Amino acid sequence: MDPEFWLQRWREGLIGFHQDDFNPYLLRHWASLEPRPGEGVLVPLAGKSKDMLWLRDQGHRVLGVEISPLAVRAFFEENGLECQCRETGDFVCHSGAAIDLWCGDFFHLRPEDTGDIRLAYDRAALVALPPDLRRRYAEHMKALLAAPDAAILLVTMDYPQTQMDGPPFSVTEAEVRDLYEPEFQVTHLETFDALAAYPKFAERGLTRLEERVYHLNRRG
Ligand SMILES: C[S@@+](CC[C@H](N)C(=O)[O-])C[C@H]1O[C@@H](n2cnc3c(N)ncnc32)[C@H](O)[C@@H]1O
Repeated sequence: MDPEFWLQRWREGLIGFHQDDFNPYLLRHWASLEPRPGEGVLVPLAGKSKDMLWLRDQGHRVLGVEISPLAVRAFFEENGLECQCRETGDFVCHSGAAIDLWCGDFFHLRPEDTGDIRLAYDRAALVALPPDLRRRYAEHMKALLAAPDAAILLVTMDYPQTQMDGPPFSVTEAEVRDLYEPEFQVTHLETFDALAAYPKFAERGLTRLEERVYHLNRRG
């Protein structure tokens, strides 16, 4: 998926992935990462997700990364937040209300940008990418979250890939393990039978669709 694909989706308003409410898996499972007060959270491929507000409201410093300037502007405008802008390297950094949303290519983010951040929240990020980019993405996440106790809350979709083209792409538990083990311990937290919740995917031919939630923990 080249960046132009996503820029075009935002220009055309084809953003069916966006949720107006906080993600229920985030609310249910965030505590399992044993977050510490005030610590930073990386939100890759962030869109204009309201989950960044929820994480901020838990007392976290949020660093979101999103390639579409339209998404970044919409996040601050729609939530009535003022922001300051500055350019750093390959990014235009928008900061306001304890949220940093960096506009640019996630793959250009450097470990010095994430610093001591040890937590990440991935909803609809890994599954937004085709297979070859998923490997690169996971390697990049591992490099950015270098802390010995780094942890990721990961929400995926799993469906018969032959029945529908992505995105969202199907990512099986076997693939999650293949991408993140052995550096990270992969714990499956929950599976939700989601076909009825997303009728548009049933219309596109899917006969099975699961949302799956994982807790990934760097092995000490
Ligand atoms: C499926 S959406 C998910 C957005 C968000 N995580 C959510 O839950 O609403 C994927 C997002 O990743 C962004 N994106 C795709 N490739 C990117 C890249 N290389 N760097 C930064 N953002 C990217 C797209 O513009 C899109 O907003």
